[in-house]
Amino acid sequence: MPGRIPQSFVNSLIERVDIVEVVGSRVQLKKAGANHMGLCPFHDEKTPSFHVYPDGHYHCFGCGAHGTTIGFLMDVDALTFPEAVESLADMLGVEVPREGGDVRRVDPGIYDVLDAASNQFKAWLRHHDEAPSAVAYLKERGLSGEVARDFGIGFAPPGWQGLKTALASFGDERLLAAGLLAKGDSGRTYDRFRQRIVFPIRDTRGRVIGFGGRIFGADTEGQPKYLNSPETDVFHKGQEVYGLFEARRARNRLDTVVVVEGYMDVVALAQHGIHNAVATLGTAIGEAHFARLYKVVDRIVCCFDGDDAGREAAWKAVNAAFPTLSAGRRLDFVFLPDGEDPDTLVRKQGADAFNALVAEAASVGRYFLERLQTGLDLANVDDRATLGELALPLIGQLPDGELRAVLLRELARLTRSDLAHLEQRVAGDGARRASATAAPSGTESKLATTLLRLLVRRPQALAGLDDTERQQLLLAAEGTLREVLGFLAEQPEADTSTLLGRFVGDPVHPQLVALCAGEDVLPGTASESDCRDCARRYLHERNRQLLLDAYRQVGTDDAMRRYLDAKRQQTTGVDDRRNAPM
Ligand code: UTP
Ligand code: MN
Repeated sequence: MPGRIPQSFVNSLIERVDIVEVVGSRVQLKKAGANHMGLCPFHDEKTPSFHVYPDGHYHCFGCGAHGTTIGFLMDVDALTFPEAVESLADMLGVEVPREGGDVRRVDPGIYDVLDAASNQFKAWLRHHDEAPSAVAYLKERGLSGEVARDFGIGFAPPGWQGLKTALASFGDERLLAAGLLAKGDSGRTYDRFRQRIVFPIRDTRGRVIGFGGRIFGADTEGQPKYLNSPETDVFHKGQEVYGLFEARRARNRLDTVVVVEGYMDVVALAQHGIHNAVATLGTAIGEAHFARLYKVVDRIVCCFDGDDAGREAAWKAVNAAFPTLSAGRRLDFVFLPDGEDPDTLVRKQGADAFNALVAEAASVGRYFLERLQTGLDLANVDDRATLGELALPLIGQLPDGELRAVLLRELARLTRSDLAHLEQRVAGDGARRASATAAPSGTESKLATTLLRLLVRRPQALAGLDDTERQQLLLAAEGTLREVLGFLAEQPEADTSTLLGRFVGDPVHPQLVALCAGEDVLPGTASESDCRDCARRYLHERNRQLLLDAYRQVGTDDAMRRYLDAKRQQTTGVDDRRNAPM
């Protein structure tokens, strides 16, 4: 952990850095007396009311925004405080001192290496012998030179040593650390990006932090279509998005971003005048992405394919976004027609068609409840209970606010339950942060205890199950039940006293003794069929819980179907047995 930045250093930075230069590089400023003014970057305006003062602060008389150079950078570039300080220190060419700790986390030279690589790739797109094929590919995909320039698109030629040679002055170690070279088994290093269109990925300050590359041309079989930089000191796939710097640069006031899947989608949308698209870098959108984007905008529209994979991705996005959806933030979903991505759609149908889809996007709340109701019949009391079971742990992930309140009210209406009761339950669930695996249901733990009691009293009753069932049981069980089943798998002949003997001195021993002693029945009297029934019901319930977890996490129609099947089978299964002639 780097140490704290001393306040005295922060003060001296604010004094020494020229605020007009910092603000002026992002907002067009005009001199007005001793001060400067321009159009406020924090709200929409036609006449300037944004004033910048030479002592290092700014004030907008239109919206009231005000602060220092550091605050300005934090808001406009979506930086954390230490990042903003680093940014100003860079301008002055000074190191940021840290109290006690390491001085700096990353080798600042890595940015120079990445910048040099980006310049080289761009130069190759203009001058390399093979450049015409790359230019032809970009043209065929509908891109103009202007958009290619805005995004800094470049070309990595075929061959193994091009970049390595061109940037030899940095040395292999630095090129490796920047992710530009790869190392073979023999230890030899070679260019990571070859025969690819290269997209530089920039941070919100505009510094190149990594690259994505698309293969093109003949003889590319066996190569991945896209290749990204590996994780480096400055490139973290799970947090960065492609196109955010470009989107902010293109718009004075960015209030919405559209998250799409691919580099080409971002660039093609920009080509058609839609400048607010960003893409994750070959990973699903996660909580860190949402957190970062919500620092910059209040509304995110996620754009997915209309197929099963798209719905699965959307459901994951709901789960990832919920903890970040505090008051004032909006999240909407767009599903594209089957077989289209934003690139193909906008090229075939134009920007208006895409904008129309975005305008009709479903709000996260609507999508959430509709999704969970798929396959349920809310006239049926069991299905209403299922809806509550599915929805509550997720709603518990939402920060307090309007969305949480609305969803709870709506859930109360749909499940015909008492709102206060739901509010109470969700408070408990939220504390557990139930996103991963849900705790065993009440039914499940009751069944586990009953089964344990029956087994302790008549250990041989397990023989009534077939091998597969015994196997499944062993796999599914947890805790004490699992230990007991494990022991009985090795010693199927054991009786109650052997079983209890095995666990003498074990922390579970008293529990087993109590189960054996309590209540009405004497050891040896539990019937084999009771035991068998209970084991089967436990298996069903456990399976249903696992499917429920799977559905909460995956959210596909298929997962939901399996869950409902398991649930219905369980109910009818028990009924059948009860009604069966003895
Ligand atoms: P897609 O395979 O959906 O391709 O990858 P695309 O975006 O439509 O690309 P084009 O139109 O064929 O050029 C979507 C995203 O998934 C990541 C990339 O980030 C890509 O933009 N991806 C894809 C990879 O990282 N590696 C791959 O091999 C493929
Ligand atoms: Mn595509």
